[in-house]
Parts: sequence; C-alpha cells; structure tokens
Amino acid sequence: MSSLLHQDLAVLYAPETADHADAIERIAAEAFGPGRFARAAERVRERQPHDPALSVVAFLHGEVVGSVRQTRVRIGATPAVMLGPLAVRPLFTKRGIGRQLMRLAADAAGQAGERVIFLVGDRAYYEPFGYRPLPVGTVRMPGPVDERRILALELVPGALEGISGAVEPRR
Ligand SMILES: CC(C)(COP(=O)(O)OP(=O)(O)OC[C@H]1O[C@@H](n2cnc3c(N)ncnc32)[C@H](O)[C@@H]1OP(=O)(O)O)[C@@H](O)C(=O)NCCC(=O)NCCS
Repeated sequence: MSSLLHQDLAVLYAPETADHADAIERIAAEAFGPGRFARAAERVRERQPHDPALSVVAFLHGEVVGSVRQTRVRIGATPAVMLGPLAVRPLFTKRGIGRQLMRLAADAAGQAGERVIFLVGDRAYYEPFGYRPLPVGTVRMPGPVDERRILALELVPGALEGISGAVEPRR
C-alpha cells in the first residue's frame, strides 16, 4: 500500500479497569486457547492477581482490541513485575498495537517505582523492546517452563544484578 493511502487506526490506550475483565478474557481465549490455564505464569497469577494500574487496554471505537497485564511479584527477595498476557485481536495485529502496549506497560511500571519487568515469551518479539534472556537457573517459576524464554527488562540500570530465586507473591 502506498504510504499516502496509509491511515492509522484511531486506537486509544488506557489503564485497565474492572469493566474490561470480560473483554480481556475473550481476547486471551482467542489468542491462547484453553492451554493458557496450564502456563507457569498462570500459576503465578493465581497467587497474586495482576495490578490493573500497571495493565493497559487498547480500544478501537470503544471496543477492547488489545491488552497487556502486569503483576507485582518478587524474584527471591527482589521486587519485580511479571508482564503477561499480551494479546491483540487477530484482525488488528501488525499495526503497532502490541508495540504501544509494551511501551505503555514499561512506562506505567517505571512510574510506579518498579525496577525490573520479566516475562515468558519469544525473544524475537521482545528483544526489540530491550528484553534480554536471563541465565538459565536465575528465576524459578511455580510450574514447568522453558527457562530460555524467561526474558527481563531493566527499568533502572543495574537492577538485574544479583537477582535470583523463586517467583513469589509480593509481600
Ligand atoms: C504477539 C502480538 C501481541 C503482537 O501484536 P501486534 O499488535 O501484531 O504487534 P506489533 O504490530 O506492535 O508488532 C511489533 C513488532 O513485532 C513484530 N512481530 C509481531 N508478531 C511477532 C512474532 N510473533 N514474532 C516476532 N515478531 C513479531 C512485528 O513485525 C513488529 O515489528 P516491526 O516493528 O519491525 O514491524 C499478537 O500477534 C498476539 O496477540 N499474538 C497472540 C498472543 C501472543 O502470542 N502473545 C505473546 C505471548 S509471548
């Protein structure tokens, strides 16, 4: 398509509220299917609900078309934020909505005084946002996980130094 014909979608982004829960659940079901409940990250979220203030929703014409959630946890003794799930409705992918959700999620966490975000996901997608794999054995999730997919982003330089341990609810 010629760039002259390109028109950006009028997507709005806002912090999540309780009103969005049903729409977000439908998007997650569409994106991940029933297997989503078996994920190790889900075991974490069962014990520590996500923080809506750190979670971002994308809207198009009033409909939720994308979502990213973040959960305040700790890795060993170190506070950290676990990012996920991230999902954009298939009809609206590849238009930058995922990228914007990732940017706003990092901004929200940083503004809340958080220092580290980690997630379980594809390096190819998350490395452009600054995420890097953690050495295998650094983070213990409460369920089976391919540890090569555990990626982390420092919001404050040096914040990953010395980090290690089990992912636990924030106390
Ligand atoms: C992954 C997902 C969130 C991407 O959303 P999106 O709105 O299409 O993402 P964007 O348009 O902002 O893409 C950002 C960049 O990532 C790239 N990208 C998109 N999907 C990718 C993937 N699966 N792997 C690698 N790169 C990907 C895009 O090409 C784009 O790169 P560019 O800036 O060079 O063009 C979306 O496809 C989705 O919901 N998938 C199903 C759920 C899922 O897999 N979530 C991630 C769990 S780990």
